[in-house]
Order: sequence, then C-alpha cells, then structure tokens
Amino acid sequence: MQGTMINFNAFCIVFFLWYNVHAKAQDKFPKYLKFGVATSSFQIEGGWNASGKGESVWDRFPHEHPEFIMDYSNGDVACDSYHLWQTDVKLLKYLGVDHYRFSLSWTRILPTGFSNRINSDGVKYYDNLINSLTENGIEPMVTLYHWDLPKKIQYLGGWANIQTAEYFGEFARIAFQLFGDRVKIWITINEPLSVCEPSNNENGLDPEISLPGIGDYLCGKTVLIAHSKAYHIYDKEFRNEQKGKIGISLSSVWSEPKTNKPKDVQTSERFMQMTLGWFAHPIFSREGDYPEIMKKTVQDRSILENFTQSRLPALMQTEINNLKGSADFFGLNHYDTVLSAKHKYAIGDPCFYKDIGAIAGKDSNWKPNENTVPWGFYKLLHWVAKEYNNPIVYITENGYHDHGQMKDIDRMVFYKEFLTVLLHAIKDGCNIQNIQLGVY
Ligand SMILES: *[C@@H]1O[C@H](CO)[C@@H](O)[C@H](O)[C@H]1NC(C)=O
Ligand SMILES: *[C@@H]1O[C@H](CO)[C@@H](O)[C@H](O)[C@H]1NC(C)=O
Repeated sequence: MQGTMINFNAFCIVFFLWYNVHAKAQDKFPKYLKFGVATSSFQIEGGWNASGKGESVWDRFPHEHPEFIMDYSNGDVACDSYHLWQTDVKLLKYLGVDHYRFSLSWTRILPTGFSNRINSDGVKYYDNLINSLTENGIEPMVTLYHWDLPKKIQYLGGWANIQTAEYFGEFARIAFQLFGDRVKIWITINEPLSVCEPSNNENGLDPEISLPGIGDYLCGKTVLIAHSKAYHIYDKEFRNEQKGKIGISLSSVWSEPKTNKPKDVQTSERFMQMTLGWFAHPIFSREGDYPEIMKKTVQDRSILENFTQSRLPALMQTEINNLKGSADFFGLNHYDTVLSAKHKYAIGDPCFYKDIGAIAGKDSNWKPNENTVPWGFYKLLHWVAKEYNNPIVYITENGYHDHGQMKDIDRMVFYKEFLTVLLHAIKDGCNIQNIQLGVY
C-alpha cells in the first residue's frame, strides 16, 4: 500500500502537461483524450470506523496480521482523505486533471454489506466529495469495488460464494440511485484478476482464502456475474435518465515470448488469454464465454488430477449472453511486462499458474526498469484492439512503482516513454479515450 498517488505524481504530471502544450503539433494528443489520476478508498480514506462505517476485509487483516505488511502499517488513517477531502480536491485542481477516479467503500455506505441499512454519514461524505469535484470542473469516475469487501460477506465465503454477485448488484443499484445524477462514468470492479488470483499465494489481496486452482476460478465466475448484474441494473433502470457509461477495469501485464520458438509464442499467447482473456473474453469478444484455450487447458489438467469435471466452473448460456457486450468501455490497468517460456508442470496439487504452463520472468536489460517497458504497453494496446474489435479503451491505471526516492528522473523517463507509445498507438488507430496516471 502506498500513499496518495496525487502527491507521488504531481511533478511529473505537471511536467507532462507542459510538454504536451509545447510539443510539435503532430506530436500532440487528440483533444478528446482526457487525463486524470486514480485512488482507491482503503488506500486513502482512513476513518476506518468513523461515523457508522462497517468493517471490511482490509480493515481486519492488518489488525490481525500486521506482519504481512512491509512496514507494519494499516489503513486506519491512511491519507486521511475521509477528513482531508477538501485539500485533496484542491490538489486535483492544481494538477489540472480532467477527472478523478476513486472508489466507494462498500461498508461506509452499507455497514454490514447488505442493502437493508444505509449509513447516511457515509453517503454525505461521497455527496460532498462528488459535489466539490463537479464544482471544480473535475469529472468523477467512480469504481464500485476496489477490493475492500465487507467482512460479513467474507464470512459467507466472499467471492467464492455466487450469492456475493447478488449483494454486489444491490450495492451497485444503491450507488446509482444515490450518486448517478452526478456520476457519469462507473467502473464495476477493479482488477478481477487481482481479486481472485491471489488465492495462489499467502500474501495476496485476501490472504484468508487459499484454494489455488479452485477458489480462484470460483471467484472469477462470481466476479464476472457480479459485473454483468451491475451493468444490466444500470442499463435497465438508470441509463435512460442518467445517461452515463459503465465498464470494468482489467489489469494486464504484456507477455512477450522468451524466444521466437513456436512453443514459447503459443505459451505467451496462452498466458494473455488465461489472465486478461479470463475476464475480457466473456465481456468483449464476439463469441463470449471464457477463452477456448483456457477451458481446454483447465479441463485437461483437472481430468489428469482425477477431478470429475473442470475446476473452471462453466458459464451457463444465459450468463454468457448477459456478459457479452456488458461494458461501454474497456478499462485497462497496466504496469509490467514479462517474458514467458513454456513449462510443463507435473500433475499434483491444482494451481492457476501450473494450469497456464509458463515461467514468466523479467529482463534486467529492460529500460526504464526490468519489468516496466514502453514497448510492452504498446504491444498490449494493439493486442486489446485486435482481440476485441478495437473497443473504446480507458487506461484506468498506469504508473511507475519505485522505492519512494525523491529524485524522480526514472519516473520522468517512464512518463515520457509510456505517453509517447500511447500517442503512437492512438495514431495507429487504437481507440483510447482517456488515461489515469498513478501507481498501485
Ligand atoms: C476507532 O478505532 C480506533 C483505533 O483505530 C479506536 O481508538 C476508536 O475507539 C474506534 N472508534 C470507534 C467509534 O469504535
Ligand atoms: C489419479 O488416480 C490414479 C488411479 O487411482 C492414481 O494412480 C493417480 O496417482 C491419481 N493422480 C493424482 C494426481 O492424484
């Protein structure tokens, strides 16, 4: 967990905006491309138990297991944006951003997670923030879920329980009712892959769950269904009147084949399909459902492991239909590039990464650093355009994670190079309409 991204990036963004004004005309971004910055509720709000807020999994975890956090800190106060939001809006205005992406704390609005009780102080907090942003000409972009699941819903199995999709839909409806008159860009869920895949490792985003190769796929199905429920609730009940847009933010590395041998090229493509494609294919592809290669790979290994059916739970035809096309834009979060080589893991305990069958590494020769490389971002943008029929893309996160040093030359190089390839991708015809700079 890092501090507010706004502070981290302020200098570089101001530098960049200056650069864009002074660059040659043909080097300029199109007028429609909007710039912003991004945060998440747990990361910045603090006020973890203030004014009726209920407990989330991320409130509880560092209280019970401080040893899992590098500096033994927690989110009790964080950047204290719950109290200092007016200062934060001033900082945003100073940056000159077009919009600000932030997330709602589910338990600040619904303390238990369930829709029967609404916390009016929590609602007031977001009302004030949203009003202040719009008064200052900053468009709010709101993520409904950025990982701080209500603790009570976790008790029921969290994202491994398909019922959680229902609870999420109810929360989404309340958010649209409360804020949809002013919020016109909604993101349902931030990074399903990060929400579900950490069940593979002990320091993941929800470390109480560790059911590799099984829990992660159950979670993935629930998250997909939750997304489609929220989308259709917006579409049927709110879109006519509120006239906003709703999408999802998917995280992706770029996977580059380690060699140009066919086995590594195929492995690298399988890596893309089973990470980004796991969530993108059901929503953005013409045929819908999980990628074929993912269904086949998990099915084959499951049978060899003596399961009677695939560990990847099938999507029913109505679910496939409801997911297809259920986003007005493709939110893409990108940080890293990896080199993928084929690796056949022995049959044994189930595991998502063994299912992929790759060894993914980095390269110490890469610039600006060994896993952040501009050409990876460029290739990823083209892959998304080609794979999903050139959807409208919002880059909902992109940034440079360092060790907090103040001489930010590397970060400046990063922004210059990443924004240059972004410009090239736009010129190539990739339909990118806005970008949020920040670090996770
Ligand atoms: C909130 O948590 C703090 C510790 O972070 C504690 O001192 C305080 O009593 C709690 N307040 C309420 C209202 O529970
Ligand atoms: C699957 O079952 C066969 C036959 O009982 C057994 O030999 C094999 O070890 C089992 N495989 C695993 C991964 O448990």
